[in-house]
Order: sequence, then C-alpha cells, then structure tokens
Amino acid sequence: MSPSRPRATKAVIPAAGLGTRFLPATKATPKEMLPVVDKPAIQYVVEEAVAAGLRDVLMVTGRNKRALEDHFDRAHELELLLAERGDEDRLARVRASSELCAMHYVRQGDPLGLGHAVLCARAHVGDNAFAVLLGDDLMDERDPLLSRMLDVQQQYGGSVVALMEVDPAHIHQYGCAAVNLTDEDDLVRIVDLVEKPKAEEAPSNLAVIGRYVLAPQIFDVLAETRADGRGEIQLTDALRQLAATGSGGPVHGVLFRGRRYDTGDRSDYLRTIVKLACERDDLGPDFSSWLLEYVEKELAPRLRGA
Ligand code: G1P
Repeated sequence: MSPSRPRATKAVIPAAGLGTRFLPATKATPKEMLPVVDKPAIQYVVEEAVAAGLRDVLMVTGRNKRALEDHFDRAHELELLLAERGDEDRLARVRASSELCAMHYVRQGDPLGLGHAVLCARAHVGDNAFAVLLGDDLMDERDPLLSRMLDVQQQYGGSVVALMEVDPAHIHQYGCAAVNLTDEDDLVRIVDLVEKPKAEEAPSNLAVIGRYVLAPQIFDVLAETRADGRGEIQLTDALRQLAATGSGGPVHGVLFRGRRYDTGDRSDYLRTIVKLACERDDLGPDFSSWLLEYVEKELAPRLRGA
C-alpha cells in the first residue's frame, strides 16, 4: 500500500542558543559555527537534512548569529580569489555550503526555550508535517535515521521522534519516553514523555535525541504550553500533550542504533572531532597514527604513573 500523505519537505533547525558552555569561544562566534574538523557543526546538520530529501531549511537564530547566514551564502570575493589561483578544490568546498538547499532565517527574539524556537517556525512551515534537527547532535551519515522517520510519518501520519537507549545514569540529560512496542523492530508507539527526569523517576532508558518529524498541530499545543520552572517552553511537554490527546495523530518513536556524536559540551565535542578526524580518508591515516603514538608513548605512561 503506497502512503497517500505527502512526505515532509521542510526542516527547522533551532540555532538561537547562547553556547555558554563554550565561552569564551562563543563570545563573538555562534556555537553552531565551531569547527568539527574543517566544517562548522551546523553544516553537518544541514547536509543531513538535504540527504534525507529536505531542501527547504529554516534556521531559528538570534542576536550574534550573522555568521550563520554568511556561511550558507555566496562569498564572491573569496570565490574569485580561489578561482584566480586555480584552487579548484577549495573553491568547490567554499561553494558547496551555499548551494546545499534553500535557506531561510527567522529570529527568536526571546530565549524562551526549544518549544518556543519551534513555534517561531509556524508561519514558514504552515499546515504541513516538518522535521526539526537539533544542532548539538550529529548523526553519522552512514546510519540514516531521518529518512526512516520521514517514511514513518508519511505512512502513519502524526509525529515521530528519534529515540536511543542510554545508560540510565544519563537519562536526566534527555527527554525520556514511555512506549508500547509495535510489530516493527525499530518502531515504538509513544504513550508518555518526560523532560529530563531523575533516574529513579524515568519511565525507561529511551532518550529523545535531537531529531523530530512533527505534525503541524504541534503549533497550537506549543502556543498553549506553559514555561517550565526555568522559564522555557519545552518541546517535550507539547509532544507529551499530542501523545496524550491523539489530536495530531499518533506519536511514534524510531529507535536509533547507529553512531551519534554529541557536540553539546566540551568533552563530547573533543571526542567527536577525534573520532571524525580518524575516519576521514584524507586526514585520517596521518592523524590516527599520530594519535596512536601519542597515546602509547605519552599518555599511557603518564596515566599509569598517576
Ligand atoms: C533537548 C530536548 C531534550 C532532548 C535533547 C536531545 O535538550 O529538550 O528532550 O533529549 O535536546 O539532545 P537540551 O539538550 O537542548 O537541553
């Protein structure tokens, strides 16, 4: 049976956060622009959206985020210079970021949380299902998640969130889902959601990771959702409401078992860079053998001596 619903075509990427965990690097530079090897983190996320067939991307930005718009725009002077030098390789890489897809921007004037950032996309998204990608989570391009989520949304309607099993000791860092199993191995039906529960109160060890495909009914719910104790409107709370009432169709979870890289804090960011650098065809062999030598000759003896 071929699904009658159209597949979602728009992606929303919230990028208004202050990036305080990376200060002072993020004093004058958006955290989304911090490089992961040689591309800003945000470019991986936009490329993931495009790879899943989403060719219309709305970024929800704020003050101090102009570098984001510049990055995805043409850079005529730079391109001319590289062309004159015959540096075709770099020219292609510079152009690539401006030719990915149709980029749009809206500002989130007040820092009222993820739910509010998504609500800022309402006019652009209209009455269609749409994807949300959070910039702190990078998904390995070899382990497609978003296309599966878009397929599920097209087949069943409603909303879809990405879930991953985590160590129960870490569940307090995530939204957490209570689920019912379905006939499909990677698909569950969400019955409840709770934002950042204490380990002993968590309904499962299934964490919401930063990918969502949302029914447009989420906007009405978000508009009514109260801010939490920290003054933030949580997307998790609005999804919980959708799951409870069924008003926007079912809420499904796709279980992700692939490789995910976290760039949200300094340690995770460093791990991400080391892993991705080791796997690169161009830089990987050299960097990996340096790393091995560094670990064996300097780090291991130091740690053993400690
Ligand atoms: C946000 C969401 C949370 C989700 C997480 C995934 O939290 O509110 O439900 O589990 O992203 O990365 P944040 O990490 O922005 O605090």
